[in-house]
Amino acid sequence: MSVLEEVMSDRGAAHDVTRNPIDEVMARRLSCREFTGTPVSRTTVEQILRVARFAPSGANIQPWHVYVLAGAAKTEVSAAILRAFESEPNEHVSEYQYYASEFPEPYLGRRQEFGRLYYNSLGIAQSDTAARSRQTAKNFTFFGASVGLIVTIDRRLAVGSWLDLGMFIQNVMLAAVGRGLQSCPQETFAKYHRILRPLLSIPAEQMVACGISLGHPREQPKARLMPRADLEAFASFKGFED
Ligand SMILES: Cc1cc2nc3c(=O)[nH]c(=O)nc-3n(C[C@H](O)[C@H](O)[C@H](O)COP(=O)(O)O)c2cc1C
Repeated sequence: MSVLEEVMSDRGAAHDVTRNPIDEVMARRLSCREFTGTPVSRTTVEQILRVARFAPSGANIQPWHVYVLAGAAKTEVSAAILRAFESEPNEHVSEYQYYASEFPEPYLGRRQEFGRLYYNSLGIAQSDTAARSRQTAKNFTFFGASVGLIVTIDRRLAVGSWLDLGMFIQNVMLAAVGRGLQSCPQETFAKYHRILRPLLSIPAEQMVACGISLGHPREQPKARLMPRADLEAFASFKGFED
């Protein structure tokens, strides 16, 4: 059984992926939260961003901006956010609302399942708030990845441009997989825009959308941790004869 089949097979999803390089790259992308710290060169990051820019965008406006951090610049950002995370736990909020205030079903159940699977995989009891907080803090060191990206979008644009931004971000993550790397998209960086703005000279009109950890995974995952709903749950077909 190939690694890909193993990754997919736990959830009986192997048949969802055809032997096609694009399908395989999509299936291999996972949110990685443990990286080796082995450097990723600027050239590699440039290649990833150059290909990711082929993401579509309404009227081709290309609303994305990326701050690419490595070495001392990344360490400085991590240290500043960690200080704020520890000393000012309630003072940092995102400029946009990522999650609904209340989740209707089926999203509520999925979010609860995410929490169960996520903390179980880390050996953390969901009631252990100190351990959960230590895990959350790892976001800010980009989970040990050698490259951290901070993605911003112009606040004067409308919600449609956030669709474009998501496509760009996905392209970045797939281009990473194509080079044997992994990533983790992280909305949690958006809360710390007041720290990031002066450190990275982010102009006032730019809003921090998310961060992305990018690097060499500590180990290639053997199985997909987060399941997906079956096709029937999200697709409605009409007019097909087969
Ligand atoms: C826009 C976005 C923001 C996310 N923010 C975080 C985050 O702040 N921290 C984190 O550990 N994971 C974050 N995730 C990862 C999700 O938890 C993950 O995509 C989901 O559980 C599905 O797992 P998979 O990506 O491994 O398939 C984010 C994902 C997306 C798309």
